[in-house]
Amino acid sequence: MSEQSGKQGSKLGLYLAMGVGATAIGFSIAAIPFLTPALRTHALPYVPATTKQIENVFKAVKGYSLEKSLTKKAPSKTNVVRLIDLGSGDGRIVFDAAERGYHATGVELNTMLYLYSKFKTFTAWKNKSGLFRPVFKRADFWKVNMTQYDLIVVFGVQGMMKDLASKLKEEMKPDCLIVSCRFPISSYKSVFRLEDELDGVWIYDKESLDNLVEEEKKSESKPIDEDDDDD
Ligand SMILES: C[S@@+](CC[C@H](N)C(=O)[O-])C[C@H]1O[C@@H](n2cnc3c(N)ncnc32)[C@H](O)[C@@H]1O
Ligand SMILES: *[C@@H]1O[C@H](CO)[C@@H](O)[C@H](O)[C@H]1NC(C)=O
Ligand SMILES: *[C@@H]1O[C@H](CO)[C@@H](O)[C@H](O)[C@H]1NC(C)=O
Repeated sequence: MSEQSGKQGSKLGLYLAMGVGATAIGFSIAAIPFLTPALRTHALPYVPATTKQIENVFKAVKGYSLEKSLTKKAPSKTNVVRLIDLGSGDGRIVFDAAERGYHATGVELNTMLYLYSKFKTFTAWKNKSGLFRPVFKRADFWKVNMTQYDLIVVFGVQGMMKDLASKLKEEMKPDCLIVSCRFPISSYKSVFRLEDELDGVWIYDKESLDNLVEEEKKSESKPIDEDDDDD
């Protein structure tokens, strides 16, 4: 996990984040007996996105939009684009999105990470004119209604993607896009992919979740072992 720690921010910020990360892992272990069965089958540990991974999210959205001549996903003064990060960790994707002009929301179950994101919003977020202040919610993303979002970003684990796809398919707007970090949603054909080892990104639209396809060539990326955190 050590190669994951980004080099952004001050040393203090990094240590704070590492402390929060360690606490987060402690919290997840402590919380396991109290989790609902759905949460237990999809234990999703805190693994922060790398700087490269975040860049790739927006690179892929831009690449796909250009390919399809979509302008809808490009935020501007007159174009509000609502983005949500499911399991926002320390908020890095949400802050980056907000800097790019998105109306960005992060949903995080872990109280420490949620508080850290809120803290950072009030201390480090500069209210640049025209930029929307990022919003963080302490909530279980399985219970969040996705109807209002234009872009759903998720850095999940392989095993949960199919169940998540079923949920998102029911709730997403017709023109909403799902951006999946590191793991494709197996059995569905992405509309765009940016392969970059562990920092790869796959994009799905609502239609792409209608048709099951033969398993795509298995991703070369090494999956996170879902049981890593509890043994
Ligand atoms: C792989 S990390 C990704 C963090 C962040 N999106 C990033 O890319 O840096 C997944 C995050 O999801 C959170 N999480 C796991 N299950 C969740 C749930 N059901 N609802 C909300 N957050 C959840 C974890 O606490 C963890 O912070
Ligand atoms: C921050 O920016 C938003 C969007 O431009 C604006 O509506 C809001 O009033 C600003 N808040 C502060 C405290 O300046
Ligand atoms: C989500 O919200 C929309 C609009 O408010 C509503 O029509 C829909 O039934 C909701 N879906 C779920 C699963 O709650």
